[in-house]
Amino acid sequence: MGKLTDKITIVTGAGQGIGRGIAEKLAAEGATVVVTDVNEVTAKETAEAIGGAGIRTDVTSRESTAAMVEQVTNRFGRIDALVNNAGWDKAGPFVDSDPADWDRVVQINLYGVLNTCKAVLPVLAEQGHGSVVNIASDAGRVGSSGEAVYSAAKGGVIAFTKSIAREMARSQVNANAVCPGPADTALFASIGGDDPKLREALTKAIPFRRLAQPSDLAGVVAFLASDEAAYVTGQTVSVSGGLTMS
Ligand SMILES: NC(=O)c1ccc[n+]([C@@H]2O[C@H](COP(=O)([O-])OP(=O)(O)OC[C@H]3O[C@@H](n4cnc5c(N)ncnc54)[C@H](O)[C@@H]3O)[C@@H](O)[C@H]2O)c1
Repeated sequence: MGKLTDKITIVTGAGQGIGRGIAEKLAAEGATVVVTDVNEVTAKETAEAIGGAGIRTDVTSRESTAAMVEQVTNRFGRIDALVNNAGWDKAGPFVDSDPADWDRVVQINLYGVLNTCKAVLPVLAEQGHGSVVNIASDAGRVGSSGEAVYSAAKGGVIAFTKSIAREMARSQVNANAVCPGPADTALFASIGGDDPKLREALTKAIPFRRLAQPSDLAGVVAFLASDEAAYVTGQTVSVSGGLTMS
């Protein structure tokens, strides 16, 4: 039996990258996974690969997230775990940044988490059980040059996670944040990871001498979404191959 047998779980941004890796792991642990992504094609691809349901959901829209959650509760009657993974970034020095990009970064990375939590937390509170796992970033803990606004949004996700962990504890709902270090995905490539020099320099700086793969994140997320972690709440876990410690 997997550690998530019979659990109803939702993963946002699960069409590719880390979110897809998380969806695969949750399914392998026995969960029913609702695969959501703003990209309907990739959402359906991931869902098909793991035998789950794929639903197009834009986390920046309260209507879209509320409609998705209603569909899930209508179909399955409950939600056991929510994984907020959808994210986006555009790298560059803050002084050269375009405020229009700040909006997009904050909308996806911070408001995205608020929007799904607004729809899901009342369901978890009513049930008297459930888990929230928010994918933040080490950028939100220790800063990252070229990612100032993204770091601000992810730092906001970490603080929000701690606060809802406090608010939801009386309902036996836990909430934790997972902070990836550099991970080998399309997002990482788009913010400079496709430059072999930067890739090599970062790889050298990581004590384990390699970038994270989505599966490196997925194990921690599966644990935090499971009953094994029911007494763990308000925590921030870095998964960075040792690049950041403490
Ligand atoms: N890759 C890294 O190095 C790294 C490091 C730290 C944190 N993270 C975080 O990990 C998470 C996953 O990132 P990734 O590297 O797999 O990125 P990715 O770009 O490969 O995947 C992100 C997914 O989110 C989806 N998405 C984007 N906007 C959305 C929206 N409005 N609504 C719903 N879905 C949306 C995309 O369609 C995509 O499928 C993000 O929160 C990211 O910030 C990544």
